[in-house]
Amino acid sequence: MVSIEEIRRLMDEKKAVLLAHNYQRPEVQDAADFVGDSLELSLKAAELEAKTVVFAGVDFMAEQAAILNPGKVVLHPERLARCPMAAMLTLELAKEYKEKYPGIPFVVYVNSWAEVKALADYVVTSANAVKLVSQLEADKVLFGPDRHLAEYVAEATGKEVIPVPSDGHCPVHLAITREEVEGARKRYPAAKVLAHPECVREVRRLADFVGSTSQMIRAASELGAREYVVATEVGLLHRLEKLGFKAHPASSYAVCVEMKKITLSSILSSLVNGRNVVKVDAKVARRAREAIGRTFELLEVPPPWSRS
Ligand code: 13P
Ligand code: SF4
Repeated sequence: MVSIEEIRRLMDEKKAVLLAHNYQRPEVQDAADFVGDSLELSLKAAELEAKTVVFAGVDFMAEQAAILNPGKVVLHPERLARCPMAAMLTLELAKEYKEKYPGIPFVVYVNSWAEVKALADYVVTSANAVKLVSQLEADKVLFGPDRHLAEYVAEATGKEVIPVPSDGHCPVHLAITREEVEGARKRYPAAKVLAHPECVREVRRLADFVGSTSQMIRAASELGAREYVVATEVGLLHRLEKLGFKAHPASSYAVCVEMKKITLSSILSSLVNGRNVVKVDAKVARRAREAIGRTFELLEVPPPWSRS
């Protein structure tokens, strides 16, 4: 069995950095240089001096790191770790909606493919989608692929948000039901509820806080409870527990098997063999970077590439 120490030794030897998403297996999180949400990981990847980045997350996250770091080698230890939600918004569908709604800003969730980001006006994450859409002059936007996040953005901004496609969703968050959250509230009366905006509306409405994975972790300190029911993927429990919180999954079905495909052993093998280098077509990457740049400009945050 591959140990965390072995991974760390190899990382140092290869002068590589391991970035891991909050939903990764506990041992992968513990081996990483940095653990975070999609936004933090994008920013981190661009800040690093290391020439090799090993990305423990699903396909679109590793691709995003490659888009933001044209000069670096980004390794994705398991190419079959793919987000099914990202696959729900194909290039053809994106083109179709853009043609059907000319002049309406096309806001794309980071959980999407590079080709789709290249067609977007803006690229957001769950941490900044509400802020970006509220700052747009337009009262109507196209938003994809998650229809639940689209609905959350519409509720928070009062704008018309057209989901692209109409039924895009995360199967993991869809598995969390209102009954499960209500049951957990009864079982753990001292606990507060944290939810991801990819959850269905009736689950979001039961939550004390709704936000991105890292925003939920920060909220746990701010809400003042010692115990939390977590309405998102179960990987987040590890980070909360490391911070000393008692954490309960809202649903034991909320497991992203795609995230869990990355193991210490696949990380080791990609590092040893330089295997699974993420490649994004240069023109696609440039266009996607432009959409990401416009987003940061509107949010008045320096774009990731100006931070290195
Ligand atoms: P965050 O951006 O909140 O980390 O979420 C990514 C994700 O895939 C949620 O399912
Ligand atoms: Fe995709 Fe859902 Fe897994 Fe996030 S949790 S990577 S949205 S399938």
